[in-house]
Amino acid sequence: MLDLTLRFVFCALLGSVYASCPPRCECSEAAHTVKCVAKDLRSVPTGIPGYTRNLFITGNQISRIGPESFKGLENVTNLSLSNNRISEVESHTFSGLRSLRSLDLSNNQLAVIHPEAFTVQNQTLRELNLSRALYNHTSVMDLATSLRWSSLGSLQGLDLSDNSLIFLPSRIFSHLANLRRLQLSNNSLVAINNSTFTGLERLEELDLTLNALRTLTEEGLEELDSLPSTALLLGENPFTCTCGIEPFALWLNRSQGHVRDVEGLVCAFPASMRNTSMLAVGSLTLGCQQRDAGADLALQTSYVFLGIVLGFIGLIFLFVLYLNRKGIKKRIYDMRDACREVWEGYHYRFEIDSDPRLSQVSTSAEA
Ligand SMILES: *[C@@H]1O[C@H](CO)[C@@H](O)[C@H](O)[C@H]1NC(C)=O
Ligand SMILES: *[C@@H]1O[C@H](CO)[C@@H](O)[C@H](O)[C@H]1NC(C)=O
Ligand SMILES: *[C@@H]1O[C@H](CO)[C@@H](O)[C@H](O)[C@H]1NC(C)=O
Ligand SMILES: *[C@@H]1O[C@H](CO)[C@@H](O)[C@H](O)[C@H]1NC(C)=O
Ligand SMILES: *[C@@H]1O[C@H](CO)[C@@H](O)[C@H](O)[C@H]1NC(C)=O
Ligand SMILES: *[C@@H]1O[C@H](CO)[C@@H](O)[C@H](O)[C@H]1NC(C)=O
Ligand SMILES: *[C@@H]1O[C@H](CO)[C@@H](O)[C@H](O)[C@H]1NC(C)=O
Ligand SMILES: *[C@@H]1O[C@H](CO)[C@@H](O)[C@H](O)[C@H]1NC(C)=O
Ligand SMILES: *[C@@H]1O[C@H](CO)[C@@H](O)[C@H](O)[C@H]1NC(C)=O
Ligand SMILES: *[C@@H]1O[C@H](CO)[C@@H](O)[C@H](O)[C@H]1NC(C)=O
Repeated sequence: MLDLTLRFVFCALLGSVYASCPPRCECSEAAHTVKCVAKDLRSVPTGIPGYTRNLFITGNQISRIGPESFKGLENVTNLSLSNNRISEVESHTFSGLRSLRSLDLSNNQLAVIHPEAFTVQNQTLRELNLSRALYNHTSVMDLATSLRWSSLGSLQGLDLSDNSLIFLPSRIFSHLANLRRLQLSNNSLVAINNSTFTGLERLEELDLTLNALRTLTEEGLEELDSLPSTALLLGENPFTCTCGIEPFALWLNRSQGHVRDVEGLVCAFPASMRNTSMLAVGSLTLGCQQRDAGADLALQTSYVFLGIVLGFIGLIFLFVLYLNRKGIKKRIYDMRDACREVWEGYHYRFEIDSDPRLSQVSTSAEA
Protein backbone atom coordinates (compact mmCIF):
# COMPACT_ATOMS: atom_id res chain seq x y z
CA MET A 1 0.00 0.00 0.00
CA LEU A 2 2.74 2.43 1.02
CA ASP A 3 4.75 1.30 -1.92
CA LEU A 4 1.82 2.07 -4.21
CA THR A 5 1.35 5.54 -2.67
CA LEU A 6 5.03 6.31 -3.04
CA ARG A 7 4.93 5.17 -6.60
CA PHE A 8 1.89 7.37 -7.22
CA VAL A 9 3.57 10.41 -5.64
CA PHE A 10 6.68 9.76 -7.62
CA CYS A 11 4.71 9.52 -10.84
CA ALA A 12 2.80 12.68 -10.00
CA LEU A 13 6.04 14.48 -9.32
CA LEU A 14 7.53 13.19 -12.52
CA GLY A 15 4.39 14.20 -14.36
CA SER A 16 4.52 17.66 -12.89
CA VAL A 17 8.19 17.94 -13.81
CA TYR A 18 7.30 16.89 -17.35
CA ALA A 19 4.39 19.25 -17.45
CA SER A 20 6.41 22.04 -15.93
CA CYS A 21 7.48 24.96 -18.04
CA PRO A 22 9.52 27.93 -16.88
CA PRO A 23 7.50 31.09 -16.28
CA ARG A 24 7.11 33.32 -19.35
CA CYS A 25 7.97 30.43 -21.67
CA GLU A 26 5.85 28.22 -23.90
CA CYS A 27 6.60 24.54 -23.92
CA SER A 28 5.44 21.91 -26.34
CA GLU A 29 6.40 18.40 -25.37
CA ALA A 30 5.05 16.98 -28.60
CA ALA A 31 7.23 19.28 -30.67
CA HIS A 32 10.14 19.06 -28.17
CA THR A 33 10.18 22.82 -28.30
CA VAL A 34 10.48 25.59 -25.71
CA LYS A 35 10.10 29.25 -26.60
CA CYS A 36 10.76 32.23 -24.35
CA VAL A 37 10.38 35.02 -26.85
CA ALA A 38 10.46 38.76 -26.06
CA LYS A 39 9.63 38.35 -22.38
CA ASP A 40 12.17 40.75 -20.90
CA LEU A 41 14.15 37.88 -19.38
CA ARG A 42 17.47 38.93 -17.81
CA SER A 43 18.95 35.44 -17.62
CA VAL A 44 18.40 31.97 -19.05
CA PRO A 45 15.40 30.55 -17.11
CA THR A 46 15.85 27.44 -14.97
CA GLY A 47 13.59 24.38 -15.19
CA ILE A 48 13.66 23.94 -18.95
CA PRO A 49 12.36 20.40 -19.54
CA GLY A 50 14.83 17.68 -20.52
CA TYR A 51 12.87 16.65 -23.63
CA THR A 52 13.63 20.00 -25.25
CA ARG A 53 15.28 19.79 -28.65
CA ASN A 54 14.52 23.25 -29.96
CA LEU A 55 15.15 26.05 -27.50
CA PHE A 56 14.43 29.67 -28.42
CA ILE A 57 15.31 32.35 -25.86
CA THR A 58 15.21 35.32 -28.20
CA GLY A 59 14.44 39.01 -27.97
CA ASN A 60 15.16 39.30 -24.26
CA GLN A 61 17.63 41.28 -22.15
CA ILE A 62 20.05 38.48 -21.38
CA SER A 63 23.56 39.86 -20.97
CA ARG A 64 25.47 36.98 -19.41
CA ILE A 65 25.59 33.28 -20.15
CA GLY A 66 27.95 30.64 -18.78
CA PRO A 67 28.36 26.88 -18.29
CA GLU A 68 25.71 26.89 -15.50
CA SER A 69 23.07 28.34 -17.86
CA PHE A 70 22.43 25.13 -19.79
CA LYS A 71 22.52 22.22 -17.34
CA GLY A 72 20.76 18.93 -18.05
CA LEU A 73 19.79 19.90 -21.58
CA GLU A 74 21.41 16.99 -23.31
CA ASN A 75 18.72 16.76 -26.00
CA VAL A 76 18.86 20.32 -27.29
CA THR A 77 19.91 20.32 -30.94
CA ASN A 78 18.86 23.84 -31.92
CA LEU A 79 19.55 26.76 -29.61
CA SER A 80 18.75 30.34 -30.51
CA LEU A 81 19.79 33.21 -28.30
CA SER A 82 19.43 35.86 -30.97
CA ASN A 83 18.38 39.43 -30.21
CA ASN A 84 19.69 39.61 -26.69
CA ARG A 85 22.43 41.71 -25.12
CA ILE A 86 25.01 39.03 -24.61
CA SER A 87 28.45 40.65 -24.35
CA GLU A 88 30.59 37.81 -23.07
CA VAL A 89 30.77 34.10 -23.82
CA GLU A 90 32.81 32.06 -21.39
CA SER A 91 34.74 28.95 -22.28
CA HIS A 92 32.62 25.77 -22.23
CA THR A 93 29.32 27.66 -22.02
CA PHE A 94 27.73 25.13 -24.40
CA SER A 95 29.80 22.07 -23.49
CA GLY A 96 26.92 20.34 -21.69
CA LEU A 97 24.64 20.55 -24.73
CA ARG A 98 25.88 17.24 -26.05
CA SER A 99 23.49 17.13 -29.00
CA LEU A 100 23.83 20.75 -30.08
CA ARG A 101 23.92 21.11 -33.85
CA SER A 102 22.80 24.68 -34.45
CA LEU A 103 23.70 27.70 -32.35
CA ASP A 104 22.29 31.12 -33.19
CA LEU A 105 23.86 34.10 -31.42
CA SER A 106 22.91 36.67 -34.04
CA ASN A 107 22.11 40.23 -32.97
CA ASN A 108 24.09 40.36 -29.76
CA GLN A 109 27.01 42.48 -28.57
CA LEU A 110 29.86 40.07 -28.06
CA ALA A 111 32.87 42.03 -26.84
CA VAL A 112 34.67 39.20 -25.05
CA ILE A 113 34.79 35.68 -26.47
CA HIS A 114 36.83 33.19 -24.48
CA PRO A 115 39.06 30.71 -26.31
CA GLU A 116 36.80 27.66 -25.89
CA ALA A 117 33.53 29.55 -26.05
CA PHE A 118 32.00 27.34 -28.76
CA THR A 119 33.30 23.98 -27.60
CA VAL A 120 30.59 21.33 -27.64
CA GLN A 121 31.29 17.82 -26.40
CA ASN A 122 31.50 15.32 -29.24
CA GLN A 123 32.01 18.09 -31.82
CA THR A 124 28.37 18.01 -32.84
CA LEU A 125 28.04 21.70 -33.82
CA ARG A 126 27.15 22.15 -37.51
CA GLU A 127 25.80 25.70 -37.75
CA LEU A 128 27.02 28.82 -35.98
CA ASN A 129 25.26 32.12 -36.61
CA LEU A 130 27.20 35.18 -35.53
CA SER A 131 25.46 37.61 -37.85
CA ARG A 132 25.51 41.10 -36.33
CA ALA A 133 26.81 39.53 -33.12
CA LEU A 134 30.17 41.25 -32.61
CA TYR A 135 30.23 44.43 -30.55
CA ASN A 136 32.92 45.98 -32.73
CA HIS A 137 35.58 44.78 -35.10
CA THR A 138 38.09 44.41 -32.25
CA SER A 139 36.21 41.27 -31.16
CA VAL A 140 37.38 39.53 -34.33
CA MET A 141 40.72 38.77 -32.67
CA ASP A 142 38.92 36.92 -29.85
CA LEU A 143 36.77 35.21 -32.43
CA ALA A 144 39.83 34.00 -34.35
CA THR A 145 41.24 32.48 -31.18
CA SER A 146 38.00 30.73 -30.27
CA LEU A 147 37.47 29.38 -33.80
CA ARG A 148 40.87 27.80 -33.37
CA TRP A 149 40.45 26.39 -29.85
CA SER A 150 36.79 25.34 -29.85
CA SER A 151 37.24 22.08 -31.80
CA LEU A 152 34.88 23.08 -34.59
CA GLY A 153 36.13 20.46 -37.02
CA SER A 154 32.57 19.47 -37.93
CA LEU A 155 31.18 22.98 -38.43
CA GLN A 156 29.51 23.30 -41.83
CA GLY A 157 27.98 26.77 -41.79
CA LEU A 158 29.31 30.01 -40.33
CA ASP A 159 27.47 33.30 -40.66
CA LEU A 160 29.58 36.39 -39.93
CA SER A 161 27.51 38.87 -41.92
CA ASP A 162 26.63 42.41 -40.74
CA ASN A 163 29.59 42.73 -38.39
CA SER A 164 31.53 45.78 -39.65
CA LEU A 165 34.65 43.65 -39.99
CA ILE A 166 37.41 45.64 -41.67
CA PHE A 167 39.88 42.77 -41.90
CA LEU A 168 40.10 39.07 -41.23
CA PRO A 169 43.05 37.87 -39.16
CA SER A 170 45.41 35.66 -41.07
CA ARG A 171 44.30 31.99 -41.15
CA ILE A 172 41.20 32.70 -39.05
CA PHE A 173 39.29 29.78 -40.62
CA SER A 174 42.16 27.33 -40.81
CA HIS A 175 40.68 24.94 -38.23
CA LEU A 176 37.30 24.67 -39.94
CA ALA A 177 38.21 21.90 -42.35
CA ASN A 178 34.59 20.89 -42.99
CA LEU A 179 33.07 24.32 -43.50
CA ARG A 180 30.74 24.42 -46.53
CA ARG A 181 29.09 27.84 -46.27
CA LEU A 182 30.69 31.08 -45.15
CA GLN A 183 28.71 34.32 -45.02
CA LEU A 184 30.76 37.50 -44.87
CA SER A 185 28.31 39.87 -46.51
CA ASN A 186 27.70 43.43 -45.26
CA ASN A 187 31.08 43.93 -43.62
CA SER A 188 33.80 46.44 -44.51
CA LEU A 189 36.48 44.11 -45.84
CA VAL A 190 38.94 45.92 -48.10
CA ALA A 191 41.28 43.10 -49.11
CA ILE A 192 41.66 39.37 -49.51
CA ASN A 193 45.15 38.19 -48.52
CA ASN A 194 47.08 35.09 -49.32
CA SER A 195 46.16 33.53 -45.97
CA THR A 196 42.58 34.77 -45.54
CA PHE A 197 40.86 31.50 -46.54
CA THR A 198 43.59 29.02 -45.71
CA GLY A 199 42.26 25.59 -44.73
CA LEU A 200 38.75 25.87 -46.23
CA GLU A 201 39.17 22.85 -48.44
CA ARG A 202 35.50 21.91 -48.59
CA LEU A 203 33.99 25.36 -48.94
CA GLU A 204 31.04 25.41 -51.34
CA GLU A 205 29.65 28.92 -50.85
CA LEU A 206 31.41 32.16 -50.04
CA ASP A 207 29.37 35.35 -49.78
CA LEU A 208 31.40 38.57 -49.96
CA THR A 209 28.63 40.88 -51.11
CA LEU A 210 28.27 44.38 -49.61
CA ASN A 211 31.88 44.82 -48.54
CA ALA A 212 34.45 47.52 -49.30
CA LEU A 213 36.44 45.74 -52.01
CA ARG A 214 37.61 48.26 -54.63
CA THR A 215 39.50 45.62 -56.53
CA LEU A 216 41.14 42.27 -55.88
CA THR A 217 44.91 42.05 -56.00
CA GLU A 218 46.81 39.22 -57.71
CA GLU A 219 47.34 37.83 -54.21
CA GLY A 220 43.61 37.87 -53.48
CA LEU A 221 42.76 36.30 -56.84
CA GLU A 222 45.22 33.51 -56.20
CA GLU A 223 43.62 32.97 -52.80
CA LEU A 224 40.17 32.69 -54.41
CA ASP A 225 41.61 30.32 -57.03
CA SER A 226 42.70 28.10 -54.14
CA LEU A 227 38.97 27.46 -53.48
CA PRO A 228 38.12 25.83 -56.80
CA SER A 229 34.79 24.24 -55.86
CA THR A 230 33.42 27.34 -54.16
CA ALA A 231 30.61 29.42 -55.60
CA LEU A 232 31.43 33.07 -54.97
CA LEU A 233 29.24 36.11 -54.52
CA LEU A 234 30.94 39.48 -55.00
CA GLY A 235 28.12 41.93 -55.74
CA GLU A 236 27.60 45.38 -54.19
CA ASN A 237 31.27 46.16 -53.72
CA PRO A 238 32.66 49.60 -54.70
CA PHE A 239 34.73 48.29 -57.61
CA THR A 240 36.93 51.06 -58.97
CA CYS A 241 37.45 50.68 -62.70
CA THR A 242 40.76 52.42 -63.30
CA CYS A 243 43.77 50.89 -65.03
CA GLY A 244 44.87 48.73 -62.07
CA ILE A 245 41.66 46.67 -62.15
CA GLU A 246 42.51 44.89 -65.42
CA PRO A 247 43.88 41.68 -63.83
CA PHE A 248 40.68 41.37 -61.79
CA ALA A 249 38.47 41.99 -64.83
CA LEU A 250 40.37 39.38 -66.84
CA TRP A 251 40.10 36.95 -63.92
CA LEU A 252 36.33 37.52 -63.78
CA ASN A 253 36.03 36.78 -67.49
CA ARG A 254 38.00 33.58 -66.93
CA SER A 255 36.14 32.57 -63.77
CA GLN A 256 32.55 33.05 -64.88
CA GLY A 257 31.55 29.60 -63.66
CA HIS A 258 33.06 30.31 -60.27
CA VAL A 259 31.43 33.70 -59.56
CA ARG A 260 27.72 33.20 -59.34
CA ASP A 261 26.73 36.87 -59.65
CA VAL A 262 29.30 37.78 -62.29
CA GLU A 263 26.64 39.12 -64.68
CA GLY A 264 25.53 41.69 -62.12
CA LEU A 265 28.95 43.02 -61.14
CA VAL A 266 29.37 46.67 -62.10
CA CYS A 267 31.87 49.45 -61.58
CA ALA A 268 31.03 51.96 -58.86
CA PHE A 269 33.86 54.41 -59.58
CA PRO A 270 34.92 56.57 -61.35
CA ALA A 271 31.61 58.29 -62.09
CA SER A 272 32.10 57.95 -65.85
CA MET A 273 32.27 54.15 -65.50
CA ARG A 274 29.41 53.73 -63.00
CA ASN A 275 27.11 50.82 -63.81
CA THR A 276 29.48 49.49 -66.51
CA SER A 277 29.51 45.71 -66.36
CA MET A 278 32.79 44.37 -64.99
CA LEU A 279 32.81 41.90 -67.88
CA ALA A 280 32.89 44.77 -70.36
CA VAL A 281 35.88 46.34 -68.68
CA GLY A 282 38.89 45.87 -70.91
CA SER A 283 42.04 47.87 -71.43
CA LEU A 284 40.32 49.83 -74.20
CA THR A 285 37.37 51.03 -72.15
CA LEU A 286 39.68 52.01 -69.32
CA GLY A 287 41.78 54.21 -71.58
CA CYS A 288 45.00 52.61 -70.34
CA GLN A 289 46.20 52.27 -73.95
CA GLN A 290 45.29 55.85 -74.73
CA ARG A 291 47.56 56.84 -71.92
CA ASP A 292 50.34 54.76 -73.50
CA ALA A 293 49.69 56.44 -76.87
CA GLY A 294 49.87 59.78 -75.09
CA ALA A 295 53.26 58.84 -73.67
CA ASP A 296 54.46 57.97 -77.19
CA LEU A 297 53.25 61.31 -78.48
CA ALA A 298 55.13 63.11 -75.71
CA LEU A 299 58.28 61.21 -76.64
CA GLN A 300 57.90 62.17 -80.31
CA THR A 301 57.33 65.79 -79.38
CA SER A 302 60.50 65.82 -77.35
CA TYR A 303 62.48 64.40 -80.29
CA VAL A 304 61.14 67.12 -82.59
CA PHE A 305 62.03 69.74 -80.02
CA LEU A 306 65.55 68.35 -79.68
CA GLY A 307 65.92 68.47 -83.49
CA ILE A 308 64.85 72.11 -83.61
CA VAL A 309 67.29 73.07 -80.85
CA LEU A 310 70.17 71.28 -82.56
CA GLY A 311 69.27 72.92 -85.90
CA PHE A 312 69.23 76.32 -84.26
CA ILE A 313 72.65 75.78 -82.68
CA GLY A 314 73.94 74.72 -86.11
CA LEU A 315 72.58 77.90 -87.68
CA ILE A 316 74.25 80.08 -85.06
CA PHE A 317 77.51 78.26 -85.71
CA LEU A 318 77.27 78.90 -89.44
CA PHE A 319 76.40 82.55 -88.81
CA VAL A 320 79.48 82.96 -86.59
CA LEU A 321 81.58 81.38 -89.31
CA TYR A 322 80.12 83.82 -91.84
CA LEU A 323 80.89 86.86 -89.65
CA ASN A 324 84.48 85.74 -89.23
CA ARG A 325 84.92 84.85 -92.87
CA LYS A 326 87.76 87.33 -93.48
CA GLY A 327 89.78 86.21 -90.47
CA ILE A 328 89.13 82.61 -91.41
CA LYS A 329 90.19 83.24 -95.01
CA LYS A 330 93.38 84.86 -93.78
CA ARG A 331 94.06 82.04 -91.41
CA ILE A 332 93.45 79.50 -94.18
CA TYR A 333 95.93 81.34 -96.45
CA ASP A 334 98.44 81.48 -93.60
CA MET A 335 97.97 77.82 -93.04
CA ARG A 336 98.36 77.12 -96.74
CA ASP A 337 101.60 79.10 -96.85
CA ALA A 338 102.87 77.33 -93.77
CA CYS A 339 101.99 74.01 -95.36
CA ARG A 340 103.72 74.98 -98.55
CA GLU A 341 106.90 75.88 -96.66
CA VAL A 342 106.83 72.64 -94.74
CA TRP A 343 106.15 70.72 -97.90
CA GLU A 344 108.95 72.40 -99.83
CA GLY A 345 111.36 71.78 -96.97
CA TYR A 346 110.34 68.18 -96.92
CA HIS A 347 110.62 67.90 -100.65
CA TYR A 348 114.11 69.30 -100.49
CA ARG A 349 115.14 66.89 -97.75
CA PHE A 350 113.67 64.06 -99.74
CA GLU A 351 115.77 64.96 -102.77
CA ILE A 352 118.89 65.01 -100.59
CA ASP A 353 117.90 61.73 -98.95
CA SER A 354 117.32 60.05 -102.29
CA ASP A 355 120.85 60.92 -103.55
CA PRO A 356 123.17 58.49 -101.72
CA ARG A 357 126.19 60.70 -102.20
CA LEU A 358 124.49 63.72 -100.82
CA SER A 359 123.18 61.73 -97.96
CA GLN A 360 126.66 60.47 -97.17
CA VAL A 361 127.91 64.02 -97.24
CA SER A 362 125.15 65.11 -94.95
CA THR A 363 125.71 62.25 -92.48
CA SER A 364 129.47 62.84 -92.40
CA ALA A 365 128.84 66.51 -91.96
CA GLU A 366 126.47 65.73 -89.07
CA ALA A 367 129.09 63.50 -87.51
C1 LIG B 1 16.63 12.98 -23.99
O1 LIG B 1 15.87 12.24 -24.92
C2 LIG B 1 15.91 10.87 -24.70
C3 LIG B 1 15.21 10.19 -25.83
O2 LIG B 1 14.09 10.94 -26.23
C4 LIG B 1 15.29 10.54 -23.36
O3 LIG B 1 15.33 9.16 -23.10
C5 LIG B 1 16.05 11.28 -22.26
O4 LIG B 1 15.42 11.08 -21.00
C6 LIG B 1 16.08 12.73 -22.58
N1 LIG B 1 16.92 13.43 -21.62
C7 LIG B 1 16.43 14.17 -20.64
C8 LIG B 1 17.37 14.82 -19.70
O5 LIG B 1 15.22 14.31 -20.49
C1 LIG C 1 17.49 23.09 -36.37
O1 LIG C 1 18.74 23.33 -37.02
C2 LIG C 1 18.85 22.71 -38.26
C3 LIG C 1 20.23 23.00 -38.78
O2 LIG C 1 21.16 22.37 -37.99
C4 LIG C 1 17.78 23.24 -39.18
O3 LIG C 1 17.86 22.59 -40.42
C5 LIG C 1 16.43 23.03 -38.57
O4 LIG C 1 15.45 23.63 -39.39
C6 LIG C 1 16.36 23.65 -37.20
N1 LIG C 1 15.09 23.37 -36.59
C7 LIG C 1 14.36 24.31 -35.99
C8 LIG C 1 13.10 23.88 -35.39
O5 LIG C 1 14.73 25.47 -35.97
C1 LIG D 1 29.11 11.11 -28.52
O1 LIG D 1 28.22 10.66 -29.50
C2 LIG D 1 27.97 9.26 -29.44
C3 LIG D 1 27.08 8.88 -30.60
O2 LIG D 1 26.26 9.94 -30.96
C4 LIG D 1 27.34 8.89 -28.10
O3 LIG D 1 27.15 7.52 -28.03
C5 LIG D 1 28.29 9.34 -27.00
O4 LIG D 1 27.68 9.13 -25.76
C6 LIG D 1 28.60 10.81 -27.14
N1 LIG D 1 29.57 11.19 -26.17
C7 LIG D 1 29.39 12.21 -25.36
C8 LIG D 1 30.51 12.49 -24.42
O5 LIG D 1 28.38 12.87 -25.40
C1 LIG E 1 21.58 34.17 -39.05
O1 LIG E 1 20.75 35.02 -38.36
C2 LIG E 1 20.24 36.10 -39.13
C3 LIG E 1 19.47 37.04 -38.23
O2 LIG E 1 18.82 36.37 -37.21
C4 LIG E 1 19.38 35.52 -40.24
O3 LIG E 1 18.88 36.56 -41.05
C5 LIG E 1 20.24 34.61 -41.09
O4 LIG E 1 19.48 34.01 -42.10
C6 LIG E 1 20.89 33.54 -40.24
N1 LIG E 1 21.88 32.86 -41.04
C7 LIG E 1 21.74 31.58 -41.41
C8 LIG E 1 22.84 31.00 -42.20
O5 LIG E 1 20.76 30.93 -41.12
C1 LIG F 1 35.74 47.85 -29.18
O1 LIG F 1 35.24 47.61 -27.89
C2 LIG F 1 36.24 47.41 -26.91
C3 LIG F 1 35.56 46.98 -25.63
O2 LIG F 1 34.49 47.78 -25.32
C4 LIG F 1 37.04 48.69 -26.75
O3 LIG F 1 38.04 48.52 -25.78
C5 LIG F 1 37.68 49.01 -28.11
O4 LIG F 1 38.37 50.22 -28.04
C6 LIG F 1 36.63 49.09 -29.18
N1 LIG F 1 37.28 49.20 -30.46
C7 LIG F 1 36.93 50.07 -31.37
C8 LIG F 1 37.71 50.07 -32.63
O5 LIG F 1 35.99 50.85 -31.22
C1 LIG G 1 24.45 45.92 -42.67
O1 LIG G 1 24.79 45.82 -41.31
C2 LIG G 1 24.41 46.92 -40.53
C3 LIG G 1 24.85 46.67 -39.12
O2 LIG G 1 26.20 46.31 -39.08
C4 LIG G 1 22.90 47.10 -40.59
O3 LIG G 1 22.54 48.27 -39.86
C5 LIG G 1 22.47 47.25 -42.02
O4 LIG G 1 21.05 47.28 -42.09
C6 LIG G 1 22.95 46.06 -42.83
N1 LIG G 1 22.63 46.28 -44.22
C7 LIG G 1 22.04 45.36 -44.96
C8 LIG G 1 21.78 45.73 -46.37
O5 LIG G 1 21.73 44.28 -44.51
C1 LIG H 1 46.24 42.14 -46.17
O1 LIG H 1 46.80 42.94 -47.19
C2 LIG H 1 46.56 44.31 -47.03
C3 LIG H 1 47.09 45.02 -48.23
O2 LIG H 1 47.70 44.17 -49.11
C4 LIG H 1 47.22 44.76 -45.73
O3 LIG H 1 46.97 46.14 -45.54
C5 LIG H 1 46.66 43.98 -44.58
O4 LIG H 1 47.32 44.33 -43.39
C6 LIG H 1 46.82 42.51 -44.81
N1 LIG H 1 46.11 41.79 -43.78
C7 LIG H 1 46.62 40.75 -43.17
C8 LIG H 1 45.77 40.12 -42.14
O5 LIG H 1 47.72 40.32 -43.44
C1 LIG I 1 51.78 36.08 -48.20
O1 LIG I 1 52.13 37.43 -48.33
C2 LIG I 1 53.17 37.85 -47.47
C3 LIG I 1 53.37 39.34 -47.67
O2 LIG I 1 52.39 39.91 -48.42
C4 LIG I 1 54.42 37.05 -47.80
O3 LIG I 1 55.44 37.41 -46.89
C5 LIG I 1 54.14 35.58 -47.68
O4 LIG I 1 55.26 34.84 -48.07
C6 LIG I 1 52.96 35.20 -48.53
N1 LIG I 1 52.65 33.81 -48.29
C7 LIG I 1 52.36 32.97 -49.29
C8 LIG I 1 52.02 31.58 -48.89
O5 LIG I 1 52.36 33.32 -50.46
C1 LIG J 1 36.29 37.02 -72.30
O1 LIG J 1 36.47 35.66 -72.59
C2 LIG J 1 36.00 35.27 -73.86
C3 LIG J 1 36.23 33.80 -74.01
O2 LIG J 1 35.82 33.11 -72.87
C4 LIG J 1 36.71 36.03 -74.94
O3 LIG J 1 36.17 35.72 -76.19
C5 LIG J 1 36.54 37.52 -74.68
O4 LIG J 1 37.29 38.27 -75.61
C6 LIG J 1 36.99 37.88 -73.31
N1 LIG J 1 36.74 39.28 -73.05
C7 LIG J 1 37.69 40.09 -72.63
C8 LIG J 1 37.25 41.50 -72.42
O5 LIG J 1 38.81 39.72 -72.42
C1 LIG K 1 22.46 51.52 -62.61
O1 LIG K 1 21.64 50.49 -63.18
C2 LIG K 1 20.51 50.19 -62.43
C3 LIG K 1 19.80 49.04 -63.07
O2 LIG K 1 20.54 48.43 -64.04
C4 LIG K 1 19.63 51.42 -62.35
O3 LIG K 1 18.52 51.14 -61.55
C5 LIG K 1 20.42 52.57 -61.74
O4 LIG K 1 19.64 53.74 -61.75
C6 LIG K 1 21.68 52.81 -62.51
N1 LIG K 1 22.46 53.83 -61.82
C7 LIG K 1 23.12 54.78 -62.47
C8 LIG K 1 23.86 55.77 -61.63
O5 LIG K 1 23.14 54.85 -63.67
